[in-house]
Amino acid sequence: MRFVLWSLPWASVALIGDALARPHAAQSVLSLSDEDATERAEAVKEAFQHAWKGYKKYAFPHDELHPVSNGFGDSRNGWGASAVDALSTALIMRDADIVNQILDFIPTIDYTQTNQQVSLFETTIRYLAGMLSGYDLLTGPLADLASDSTKVDALLSQSKKLADILKFAFDTPSGVPYNGINITSKGNNGATSNGLAVTGTLVLEWTRLSDLTQDQEYANLSQKAESYLLNPQPATAEPFPGLVGSNINIDTGLFENGYVSWNGGDDSFYEYLLKMYVYDPLRFGEYLNRWEAAVNSTMAHLTSHPASRPDLTFLATYNDGSYGLSSQHLTCFDGGSFLLGGSILERQDLIDYGLQLVDSCYDTYNETATGIGPEQFSWDSASVPSAQQAFYQRAGFYIQSGYYILRPEVIESIYYAYRITKDQKYQEWAWDAFVAINATCRTDSGFSGITDVNAANGGSRDDNQESFLFAEVLKYSYLIHAPGKSFRCGMRPNARLTCTEDEWQIQAGDGQNTFVFNTEAHPIRVAQR
Ligand SMILES: *[C@@H]1O[C@H](CO)[C@@H](O)[C@H](O)[C@H]1NC(C)=O
Ligand SMILES: *[C@@H]1O[C@H](CO)[C@@H](O)[C@H](O)[C@H]1NC(C)=O
Ligand SMILES: *[C@@H]1O[C@H](CO)[C@@H](O)[C@H](O)[C@H]1NC(C)=O
Ligand SMILES: *[C@@H]1O[C@H](CO)[C@@H](O)[C@H](O)[C@H]1NC(C)=O
Ligand SMILES: *[C@@H]1O[C@H](CO)[C@@H](O)[C@H](O)[C@H]1NC(C)=O
Repeated sequence: MRFVLWSLPWASVALIGDALARPHAAQSVLSLSDEDATERAEAVKEAFQHAWKGYKKYAFPHDELHPVSNGFGDSRNGWGASAVDALSTALIMRDADIVNQILDFIPTIDYTQTNQQVSLFETTIRYLAGMLSGYDLLTGPLADLASDSTKVDALLSQSKKLADILKFAFDTPSGVPYNGINITSKGNNGATSNGLAVTGTLVLEWTRLSDLTQDQEYANLSQKAESYLLNPQPATAEPFPGLVGSNINIDTGLFENGYVSWNGGDDSFYEYLLKMYVYDPLRFGEYLNRWEAAVNSTMAHLTSHPASRPDLTFLATYNDGSYGLSSQHLTCFDGGSFLLGGSILERQDLIDYGLQLVDSCYDTYNETATGIGPEQFSWDSASVPSAQQAFYQRAGFYIQSGYYILRPEVIESIYYAYRITKDQKYQEWAWDAFVAINATCRTDSGFSGITDVNAANGGSRDDNQESFLFAEVLKYSYLIHAPGKSFRCGMRPNARLTCTEDEWQIQAGDGQNTFVFNTEAHPIRVAQR
């Protein structure tokens, strides 16, 4: 069906001798008619619609579906996390029906009410970013998908309301926020320090909100908190240039340690240093310098090759002179970050290194029984469990936590590898991963996390469907294959066929991106361009 639809531009090309004579024009049209890629994108869209249908039937407007028992959970304050997280993916897939169901819902969310503690970080990356991204797409390239424009305006007014409810979290002696807050009492969980990632993964969303509302307060709050991370004190907090400790004192803004990693808890601080520069190179040049210092030090000091598979590259952790040889599914965003930054800085060494990280994270998928990678793994040859000796010898790692909760990072980095290199190999890898997830995690109403990626059928199912299945796994799986459908072709007045890719697709090179993806894969329109 799709192929027939997309054979139209082919027909037009055949009529234009001028376009045929141009190798570049002919080449882009060739990828346009890639039947396999279009079919794959449609299969991912089918999975998204399957999950949406089950969520809508059994769990909406709760936060997430329990996809085995067909119950629901409210792990994100009961504001409908899956619906808000699904919006930007439904938009990118151009599913107007689902888009408008979510647009009807968002104005009805009452962000003043919850009986649970609120995570400033999780609320920012899922709800605030989900709404801001929807607003950016619906006031930009996808404006035609909304049937009621007042619902689009509500995305921004709800974003502002939410941030106004949350902003007291920054009211601390240093401006480093509490992450665990009580929005009813305006209290907090009593923490004395805040983590690196949860402190350093707010600045994109809160700055975007200020730029859209012309109210500097949100940007100021998040950038003040970030200032302690950009200028870490004391000196022991930065054992290698750019690589910093993991906890910051809320009263003083001083780091409390020099424990360095790219793992969960630290990860998206590094991700956002680069992405702030993509968002606005004029304001955030210093952020790029800090990112470059961090990746320089990472290559020099954290590079680690398993003894049984020296061809693989993982990132070690470092603390006070000793190294840890353990990594996570979460950490696998690292390849994508090196690739995006390498293309922006035009540094082939960073691109090559990023591809090594992507290869190695893909190995954690294709070596297991399910074809899905584990939550936590190690390559420390001194402590390989005897039951995993043979596995470690072959695969180069052994599994420390074998569950999989529908995380996206491996497919995410494969997407960057494809976008930066255009090597079809990466489309194959992402497809293999998607097919494995679809085969192992799919239930009658959605997708479930599993307990053991290296057991037949994934061990057992955890009966939970995280909202990031919608926001991330299915978005990156779709984007890497979205071929024909992601091109808009038209005849220019001079009778040349021109095809433009959807503007949210990642581009290689400085100043080339119109959108930047937040850490939950919500595309945010960049400030400059
Ligand atoms: C938040 O504060 C209110 C008012 O003091 C209290 O009733 C409620 O139990 C608190 N919520 C949590 C999750 O601690
Ligand atoms: C934001 O910060 C700038 C620069 O420090 C300051 O001039 C401005 O008054 C602040 N605005 C708000 C609303 O906090
Ligand atoms: C990182 O390393 C590159 C290549 O050696 C060098 O040109 C650049 O100045 C370094 N950047 C920082 C911030 O250390
Ligand atoms: C996994 O993929 C890597 C990279 O393509 C390849 O070298 C390796 O043989 C694959 N392993 C399996 C078990 O398919
Ligand atoms: C995903 O799983 C469903 C249900 O088993 C199946 O019908 C569909 O063909 C699968 N899609 C792919 C791409 O494997």
